[in-house]
Amino acid sequence: MSGVGSVGEIVTIAAASVPELWRVADPREATRRIGQIRALATARNAVLLAHNYQLPEVQEAADFVGDSLGLSLEAQKTGADVIVFCGVHFMAESAKILNPGKTVLLPNLSAGCALADSITPESLLKWKERYPGYLVVTYINSSAEVKALSDICCTSANAVSVIRSLPTDRILFTPDRNLGRWVARQVPEKDIVIYDGACPTHDVLRDASVERVKSGHPGAVVIAHPECREDVLQMADEVCSTSGMVQAVQRHPEARTFIVATEWALIHQLKKRFPDREFIPADGCIGCRLHCPYMKMITLDTVRRALLENVFEITVDAEDAALARRALERMMAVPRDR
Ligand code: 13P
Ligand code: SF4
Repeated sequence: MSGVGSVGEIVTIAAASVPELWRVADPREATRRIGQIRALATARNAVLLAHNYQLPEVQEAADFVGDSLGLSLEAQKTGADVIVFCGVHFMAESAKILNPGKTVLLPNLSAGCALADSITPESLLKWKERYPGYLVVTYINSSAEVKALSDICCTSANAVSVIRSLPTDRILFTPDRNLGRWVARQVPEKDIVIYDGACPTHDVLRDASVERVKSGHPGAVVIAHPECREDVLQMADEVCSTSGMVQAVQRHPEARTFIVATEWALIHQLKKRFPDREFIPADGCIGCRLHCPYMKMITLDTVRRALLENVFEITVDAEDAALARRALERMMAVPRDR
């Protein structure tokens, strides 16, 4: 989790850290547009929150860059009138649930999440009927309606602590099967039934690809997101949330090279923090397979338009919001895993 740039400050993009293929904006043009966006944000008393998977130039425009948990905490404490959420729909929706009185804007309404879409309220209701007496733990990558039917939420940064905090051994974990299995291995004393959802961006990665990258970089440390499959997680030296990976680098002061098994744009934050280290996408490519198309639907142009035209405002049904808020606030009372 990191705060970058204060309001009005213009930051220059570390051009070398942006793979050529993914560089959407010319660095000088991006700096000019970031200046415009910062001025608009000041005029509207708006805060720009960006996820670690956002385009590097969007990360540079933001007041705060972080993981899902960090962004929720930041949304909860902001004094701004407007939150421009540079991330995907469930993240903006969570910010709205935590801030019913504020305007929350998502610059592109098509920025969804395939994992969040893998569970519906109807499928969760059926599943709850099959497992009476089980508590439902739902990953934050889910809709407000699904959260409203859940006892508590979690993120990749606190899933183990959330499960351990519950006063029962019988748990339904939704919707990510890879995170669910990884958590279940950390807490073997609990009976955890896991829903069959997955993130296509992470689930596509295989240990064979990571092995190939590793063979070219002996001694490299593998850091992986728990949405990766079990075969990948088993070869990882560190398994953590996106911002947890930034902390993980600090735990390996001797290592020069890190293989990063998550969405490629996190490497922008890693290179900014640790310019003397080397970070390599785990797919053996430039992150072409570790690419979240939804996150990349937010651009400097859409952010500028959001501020100028007040689009697209996120609304949540009041009843769902009240129940989902309870699940989110219970989660936020639990500390990070480490
Ligand atoms: P983090 O909460 O670790 O940032 O992950 C969010 C996400 O969508 C991963 O795919
Ligand atoms: Fe959803 Fe996967 Fe994209 Fe994360 S990387 S926002 S889980 S589709």
